[in-house]
Amino acid sequence: MTSPPTPNEHELRRKTVAAGLAERKLDALLVSFGANLRYLSGFTGSNGNLLILPGKSILFTDPRYRTQAPQETACHVKIAKGPLLFEVLGGIKEFGLRRIGYEPSHMTCESYEWLKSRLPLKAALEPANGWIEQLRMVKSPTEIDRIRRSVQTNSRAFELTVKRVRPGMKEQDLAAELEYRMRRLGAEKPSFETIVAGGLRSALPHAQPTAAPLKAGELVVVDMGAIENGYCSDMTRMLFLGTPTTKVKRTYRAVLEAQLAAIDAVRPGVLCSRVDAAARNVLKACGLDRAFIHSTGHGLGLEIHEPPRIGKRDKTRLQPGMAITIEPGVYLEDFGGIRIEDTVVVTEKGCEILTPTNKNLYVI
Ligand code: GLY
Ligand code: MN
Repeated sequence: MTSPPTPNEHELRRKTVAAGLAERKLDALLVSFGANLRYLSGFTGSNGNLLILPGKSILFTDPRYRTQAPQETACHVKIAKGPLLFEVLGGIKEFGLRRIGYEPSHMTCESYEWLKSRLPLKAALEPANGWIEQLRMVKSPTEIDRIRRSVQTNSRAFELTVKRVRPGMKEQDLAAELEYRMRRLGAEKPSFETIVAGGLRSALPHAQPTAAPLKAGELVVVDMGAIENGYCSDMTRMLFLGTPTTKVKRTYRAVLEAQLAAIDAVRPGVLCSRVDAAARNVLKACGLDRAFIHSTGHGLGLEIHEPPRIGKRDKTRLQPGMAITIEPGVYLEDFGGIRIEDTVVVTEKGCEILTPTNKNLYVI
């Protein structure tokens, strides 16, 4: 549980939404997705529905949050005795709402059908997909501060732990140490399951740590992120146990150059696809583009993956305040994988790299 970022930030966001209702021909917006709910209300509980009307917002939650919810939000709090949607339906009837926006990508089919079939005559659910996610793409200075803190905690946890890596250490144990360290430094939890993968398993972009020992002569990928005050960080660094071969060094340099080229392309007005192309072009010149099998990065904030996507097809134009990752990688089944990832924020002139951690290959 945390205090609101600034006294009025959530309220201002709700006002922005309330002001946008008429333009969308909506009487209200029903928000059920946790990150959007937190963004708009400050409520951090696991079960809530928020109904935003012009001039009024009601947060529905369950008795577990009777004390917590009013501490976290200035919305009117309604504690539901049974399923939250019963109470939401009551609110829809009480306020005579006709057109109720909802989040199709977050509401279950069951909830949608339940509510739809019980709405008063002439009332309807209208999809309002991605609306809040669009607002969340551009972060406020308070949010950027929180991301910066999360990035710093994450980097510190990496830097303290990497010193203790030795051949023979299990992937799982290294992942556990990293997560323990980030929590000791103030993180609430990891922002995703920490990835530690050695040898050929480093070629699995989203490997899960196993009991396999880290071995001399092998690459190790470490991809980790923290959540602090609700905000995520994300970083990938590579270790090598022993003396790296020429191929390892050459491939590492290619990925680093791709990453630097993409960071260089980050500035307001630039298409996300253009940033992706900057990384891809460098790898193409090195004959490695076919081994780069994912997009160059993603937005992050209250979620570890949120819009925009720094990918081939994303035509979003970058704006100051967007927080994104830049993480090109190459994956070769018979060699291993190399990925380098930083968290950056778009500024008026270009970008600021938030990640303070050295980007050299960590030779152990
Ligand atoms: N660093 C994990 C991911 O972006 O999926
Ligand atoms: Mn990432």
